[in-house]
Amino acid sequence: DWATPTLIDVPEVRDELGALGVVEKDSPFPFPVKRVYFLYDVPSNAVRGSHAHKDLYQLIVAVSGSFQVDLDDGFTKSRFVLNSPNKGLTIPPGYWRTLRDFSAGSAALVFASEEYNPGDYIRDYDEFVKWTTA
Ligand code: TYD
Repeated sequence: DWATPTLIDVPEVRDELGALGVVEKDSPFPFPVKRVYFLYDVPSNAVRGSHAHKDLYQLIVAVSGSFQVDLDDGFTKSRFVLNSPNKGLTIPPGYWRTLRDFSAGSAALVFASEEYNPGDYIRDYDEFVKWTTA
């Protein structure tokens, strides 16, 4: 159910030489990936995100270390801890998100369904709540 934030397994190929994670067309999620970006060198006290998207789907993977993702659809809040490269959090449009508690050396890899578009962001929480109830 891609309308709901979901922790999914990211396919992994592991042997005695280490592990390799794979994301490709329709696997492990159905939306087309038009952009990949990554967060790193995030101070442990930083709070990132603090916005929602109107149309964007994302998959977030902690490829190194750990961090916490808090989600809010305007009615219900949920919390996910990402701490494994073989798990990913899918976030559909319409979720206010904050990312925090980044461990030292952590990195977030983000797969996004659209190119970068500042017009897709809602950066004001009150505006977000109005948007969800409109
Ligand atoms: P932002 O989306 O606010 O980051 P976060 O949610 O992780 O705190 O983006 C931070 C800055 O980077 C902002 O100035 C916009 C810029 N940016 C791009 O130029 N391209 C991108 O694809 C993204 C995601 C951000």
